[in-house]
Amino acid sequence: MTAVKPVLCVGCTVIDFVTINESFPTEDTDRRCLDGYWQRGGNASNVSTVLRLLGANVDFFGMLSRSNGFRVLLDDLDQRGIGIQHCPKTEKDPPFSSVIIVKETGSRTIVHCNKNYPYITWEDFRKIDLDRYGWVHFEARQSQETIKMIKTVQEHNRNHNSNILISLDFETTFEKNLPLCGLCDYVVFSSELASQQGWKSSQETCYALASSLKPECPSIICPWGSTGAACLDTVFNKFSNVAAFKPDHIVDTLGAGDSFMAGFIYATYVMQCSLSDAVSFANRVAGHKITDFGYDHIA
Ligand code: FRU
Repeated sequence: MTAVKPVLCVGCTVIDFVTINESFPTEDTDRRCLDGYWQRGGNASNVSTVLRLLGANVDFFGMLSRSNGFRVLLDDLDQRGIGIQHCPKTEKDPPFSSVIIVKETGSRTIVHCNKNYPYITWEDFRKIDLDRYGWVHFEARQSQETIKMIKTVQEHNRNHNSNILISLDFETTFEKNLPLCGLCDYVVFSSELASQQGWKSSQETCYALASSLKPECPSIICPWGSTGAACLDTVFNKFSNVAAFKPDHIVDTLGAGDSFMAGFIYATYVMQCSLSDAVSFANRVAGHKITDFGYDHIA
């Protein structure tokens, strides 16, 4: 068997300051939390973590910081064996999120602070030797740069007769990021963004998104929390509803979507599952993730 090439995850890494609270705080009160910690977060960064825990080889490509506060993130990436050899560095302080987890429900409320932290550019991306990778995963943000990066992967596929697969995590700014979709093999579309579009279910989202993308349409996956996920396989023209994996207790939902994404990539790419089987595996990874804090229990 030929060795599976690493996955390249492109996007953000941030510091998550997490507190665990008895209940959601009332505005303008001073209170103590039950517990707290900080950890490396950010969508592509979390996807890298979970892919690594599942056993894949992963490189992360995102803007790193030389500031002292960022050291914990670099150490964590290093300890987990996530490659960062292509990442550019800035002097700016890293972005961070304040995360409130409520003990009773495991809900997570995120307040993100970015302060215009620079995003990686196509100029940085084009220096990467794509031959190393079998899958490249993108966050749908900074569409003008990201579109050029995705096109570079497509061009590489054409010129080198290779088939690097491309996935997109689509969570924000619908109009701006829509043009990215048609260039990818898989788009995972968030239920929050679907609701903003007025789409009421994962099935409606798959079909509505597909009809705005024709004729260049990727396979679409839409996780919908505890009701499961839907997927539209545009290669075999097949729609499936996939039941959620319901854990018996919920502790921490922070990064559940990123864990779903990692589970999906792992099942499709490494385990070579069909689309609906990969979504089912992704549901299991996300369902298991929320039974404990952080990500290490996924291993
Ligand atoms: C979870 C997450 C957090 C981060 C936030 C950024 O999906 O990646 O780790 O703080 O989203 O939006």
